[in-house]
Amino acid sequence: MSIRFDGKVAIVTGAGNGLGRAHALGLAERGAKVVVNDLGGARDGSGASASAAENVVAEIRAAGGEAIANAANVTNAAQVQAMVDEAVAKWGRVDILVNNAGILRDKSFAKSSLEDFKLVVDVHLMGTVNCTQAVWGLMREQGYGRIVMTTSSSGLYGNFGQANYGAAKMAVVGLMNTLHLEGEKYNIRVNALAPTAFTRMTGDIGIDAEALAQLGPEHVTPGLLFLVSDAAPSRVILCAGGGGFARSVIYETDGIFLPPDQRTPENIAANFDALSSAEGQKIFQQGMEQSTKFINKALGKKPF
Ligand SMILES: NC(=O)c1ccc[n+]([C@@H]2O[C@H](COP(=O)([O-])OP(=O)(O)OC[C@H]3O[C@@H](n4cnc5c(N)ncnc54)[C@H](O)[C@@H]3O)[C@@H](O)[C@H]2O)c1
Repeated sequence: MSIRFDGKVAIVTGAGNGLGRAHALGLAERGAKVVVNDLGGARDGSGASASAAENVVAEIRAAGGEAIANAANVTNAAQVQAMVDEAVAKWGRVDILVNNAGILRDKSFAKSSLEDFKLVVDVHLMGTVNCTQAVWGLMREQGYGRIVMTTSSSGLYGNFGQANYGAAKMAVVGLMNTLHLEGEKYNIRVNALAPTAFTRMTGDIGIDAEALAQLGPEHVTPGLLFLVSDAAPSRVILCAGGGGFARSVIYETDGIFLPPDQRTPENIAANFDALSSAEGQKIFQQGMEQSTKFINKALGKKPF
């Protein structure tokens, strides 16, 4: 089964460089009409220039594809709305949104400023919210939508010096979990991509040249293309880098039940290994399943 995007309209944010550029090229190569969005700023989010997006549009057109450039700042909801309006005016719909734009302001938490923290959250979380909100109504009306949040191993597992970035990257996973539920009956599928690629964002993380040569952003893009295809799953965190593909999954252990007279912190400590046991752990489909599990334990009912 070949995956194609003919007739589909896609918006890729932060597509002037790195991963976004590779995603935009990959979508266009398989037939999508692409809005190449990029503010064109520096790695830390400062500055702006329309040329980053325009260069990628030129590449797509040179290869016979269709694309338009857009320089909206994803943190600006009015600019984002204007970008979506422009796509609809030109092509009539938006089928795919790839929330990829991002910046870094790395510093240990002790040294970082609230200003940097807010800016990083604003770009990664609120930028994703702004873009998703602007297409959500359209996708519901169309009965079709594919949305990807770009998360990160820093958010999923932590990374020294990236408290702001990690918090923002895990926040978009939370956004995905609920939008998956709310979008399901409208055929809107929402997934997250956790990439590893050598880009200007990761140019100084101390990996040697031989390893870096394996990590071109184009090796992540096949994973992204699957996540926005007709056959896409939903609520999946797909990890991708250098030709490796994996899933990150949140489980909850079955846990223990303490009768009323034993509910002490000392007993939690004494049973910590038991409540941590992976035996019987589950992937919950929604938050209420946790409440149901504990109610069942308290009422002495069998696990559902
Ligand atoms: N490279 C990696 O290994 C890696 C790992 C995990 C997550 N990510 C995530 O992947 C995404 C792409 O990263 P990259 O490595 O390609 O970085 P990059 O710096 O090469 O590209 C990011 C692009 O986003 C654009 N951008 C930044 N702020 C914007 C804004 N407010 N509005 C519009 N565009 C904006 C930048 O101009 C830039 O072109 C980011 O969300 C990043 O956090 C990357």
